[in-house]
This record gives sequence, structure tokens and C-alpha cells, in this order.
Amino acid sequence: MLVTLKVFRFNPDVDKKWHYETYKIEAPETDRILDLLEKVKGHFDGTLSFRRSCAHGVCGSDAMRINGRNQLACKTLVRDLGDKITVEPILGLKVIKDLIVDMEPFFDHYKTVLPFFINNDPLPENGKERLQSPEERARFDETTKCILCACCTTSCPSFWAGETYLGPAALVTAHRFIFDSRDQAASERLKIISETDGVSRCHTVFNCTMACPREIQITKAIGELKLAMITGKLD
Ligand code: SF4
Ligand code: F3S
Ligand code: FES
Repeated sequence: MLVTLKVFRFNPDVDKKWHYETYKIEAPETDRILDLLEKVKGHFDGTLSFRRSCAHGVCGSDAMRINGRNQLACKTLVRDLGDKITVEPILGLKVIKDLIVDMEPFFDHYKTVLPFFINNDPLPENGKERLQSPEERARFDETTKCILCACCTTSCPSFWAGETYLGPAALVTAHRFIFDSRDQAASERLKIISETDGVSRCHTVFNCTMACPREIQITKAIGELKLAMITGKLD
């Protein structure tokens, strides 16, 4: 089919303002948006800039706004969109060039919630692992699936209002460790997310849940964090 692909372009070295370029591309309907962008880069304009790595929905690097919705370019098929497709950078972060945004504020928020396992006890004598029951593991299974693509955070109006809100991705990471029975820093993380730019800035808009390519129930996870903050209970 013949696809009309409209792409957001901005090169700070030569452009005073962003603009759109339109490309007519012959492509099978099974092509992904990432394939279209590779075609533009290979056949029309080698300066087009976008992030990608795995091309299989694992690394999270090619989040972009596709026909107005945050999605991964490598997981979105032409046949699900039709022959008119618009691709833009995700919102709320500074555009560096074309579809590439500055992810530093996003990862700064991620680091704020201590995104690593904390347990200062010596390892159990009987083995090399800290054991956990299947039920204990299931408690945070959902939030282990995050690939840090930023589709959620950059679809949240509270984040658009100012980059200071920790955002749903950081809260998903906080959830992953707070509800891990082997971790010992739950109270420290709960204190961090209870501060001004933490969970209280979530107004249950659900955009994050709708945008997540891993289908994580983000709003539910944030709700569990709010409850844990109020009750002090983690079960
Ligand atoms: Fe991406 Fe989902 Fe993780 Fe948000 S929670 S960063 S949308 S994988
Ligand atoms: Fe934002 Fe998601 Fe809450 S979109 S307001 S973090 S439910
Ligand atoms: Fe890795 Fe799309 S390129 S998730």
C-alpha cells in the first residue's frame, strides 16, 4: 500500500522552529512504523534522527507519538493505522533532534526512587539465594515488566504541567521494590514518593495505563502505593 507518512522534524543546528516533512512510501501493511522510518532514513533523508535498538519491544528506546498516541515504533503495525500516519516525539521532554528527546529528567526521576535491591543482611547460610514464596513474588510481578520506555510518563498531564512530578514510570519502579518481600528499604521509598512531587500528583487520569506497551496496570499500582502510604501496610 502507499503510505503517507508525516514526520516531525527539528534540527537545532539549522531550524529556528520545528516543522513536518511528508513522505510517500510503498510498504506492505505488515510493516511496522520503525520499518517506515528506516525506509525514510535509507532512501529519502539520511539525516532523520530517531532512537531504536532491539526492534522487538524489549529495550524501550523507540517510544514516540504515533497518530497522537504514545507507542513503540517497533510494535506498531501499518495495518492498524491505515495509510495516513503522523509520527512525533513524545511530549513533556525537550526535543534534541527530530524524534529524539532528552531523557535525562525521566531517568533522574527513576533514580530518585532507589531503583535497586536493598538488603544488608548476610546471605542465608543454606544457600546463595534469598528465598521468596510464589505468592510473595506474585505481589510485584506486574511491575517487573517495565522496559522504561517513558510512554506512560510522557502521556501524563501532571508531568506535562512541569517535569518535577516523579511520573508513573518511576512509581512503577518504586512499586516493584516496595512490594518485594526481600527488600528492606520500603519505608525509605514510601517517604520519597510521599513528598510533594510524588504520588499525590497522580489524579487517576489513566493515560499511563492506556499507553503502556507492556500492559502494566499502572494506575492500579499507583493506587496500591497510595494505600501503603496511608496504612503503612504492604500486604
Ligand atoms: Fe513504559 Fe509501561 Fe514502563 Fe511506563 S510502565 S515506562 S509505559 S513499560
Ligand atoms: Fe498521570 Fe497515570 Fe496518574 S496518567 S495522573 S500517573 S493515573
Ligand atoms: Fe527496542 Fe522498540 S526498538 S523497544
